[in-house]
Amino acid sequence: MQRGIGARFEALYGRSPALYRAPGRVNIIGEYCDFNEGFVMPVNTGLHTWLAAAPRADRLCRVHSTNFDATQTFHLDSLEPGDETPWLDYVKGVAWVLQDEGVRAPGLDVLIHGEIPLGGGLSSSASLESVLAYAWLDLAGAEINLSEMAQWCRRAENEYVGVQCGIMDQYVICLCPRGHAMKLDCRSLAFAPVPLPPGAGILVVETGVHHQLSEGGYNTRRSECEAAVTALAARDPHVEALRDVAPALLEAHGPDLEDAVYRRARHVVGEIRRVHAAEEAMRNHDLPALGALLNASHASLRDDFEVSCEELDTLTAIARDCPGVHGSRMVGAGWGGCAIALVDDERMESVREHVVSEYARHAGRTPWSHVVQDTHPVGRVAA
Ligand code: GLA
Repeated sequence: MQRGIGARFEALYGRSPALYRAPGRVNIIGEYCDFNEGFVMPVNTGLHTWLAAAPRADRLCRVHSTNFDATQTFHLDSLEPGDETPWLDYVKGVAWVLQDEGVRAPGLDVLIHGEIPLGGGLSSSASLESVLAYAWLDLAGAEINLSEMAQWCRRAENEYVGVQCGIMDQYVICLCPRGHAMKLDCRSLAFAPVPLPPGAGILVVETGVHHQLSEGGYNTRRSECEAAVTALAARDPHVEALRDVAPALLEAHGPDLEDAVYRRARHVVGEIRRVHAAEEAMRNHDLPALGALLNASHASLRDDFEVSCEELDTLTAIARDCPGVHGSRMVGAGWGGCAIALVDDERMESVREHVVSEYARHAGRTPWSHVVQDTHPVGRVAA
């Protein structure tokens, strides 16, 4: 991969680049917990966004995307978000946040090659932000603090691109050590690396759909969680986020809340507890317990948080029916995108074939699939 990307950069810009890559992620469990200051358990996938870049003497940026087969140009002194080329906003957003944080970012020639399906809930955007921020800091000769950098990337997405995402994606991509998932406390940003349990792997299968709802739906779910916090804080002043809500408090005041708001809160309160239980199951190599938690997470996202869809429900049901599968659930923001299944290693290939062909029979399209591979967090790679 390195050689191909370096050669393409040289053919395009006539000089040699430095090479970088950042993984995408899946969240094993802990969906919609990050902006509620709870816990999450993501892992990097082994699919990457690759970047070749070289600094320029001026403040111009030329950016070529192999995925879109397009080159765009912008100037570091005029960083206005624009809708015409949405992928470019992620690039400009990173430039904007670095400058805002006082980094003397140079103009760049850039080539981007993404392996992560776009819009599939596997964090192609956070991966792009992270690899760009890393390359820019590296080429500026600046010191790289990965925790700070992850938070800057989130700022780019929140304040420049306009998606009110939490910190999970950027944090795992920038900091999760190889061979581990990351149990992240989204309030303190302290994390524990949790080894992946031996004997099983994570299969990722894409539904191939991306429902319209996801555009405004994510921010709506955020507001509903905030509404639950406001209502519950009036009953208990210690509540600053859904993280602080004990199940007993929620049950006591549930009937006072609007039904949808109550169910959103019930998902988050339960899901945070499932993350703790999943850590225990992973450390004890208890695959059936971990699988049952994945199934419970899916049911809660479908019934209480209402971010699943027919395709995700079908796909996870097909997976759950296969021998060798411990559990299955939707991942990411939902309304389409991908599902994961926890699968015994020796059954992985047969399960993958079965799930892909059964889903194809139902949906009329053969889904893309991937088995999570061990990988490094964001960094520079040898040319
Ligand atoms: C998206 C966001 C994350 C997180 C998940 C839901 O992936 O980018 O911050 O909120 O949805 O868990």
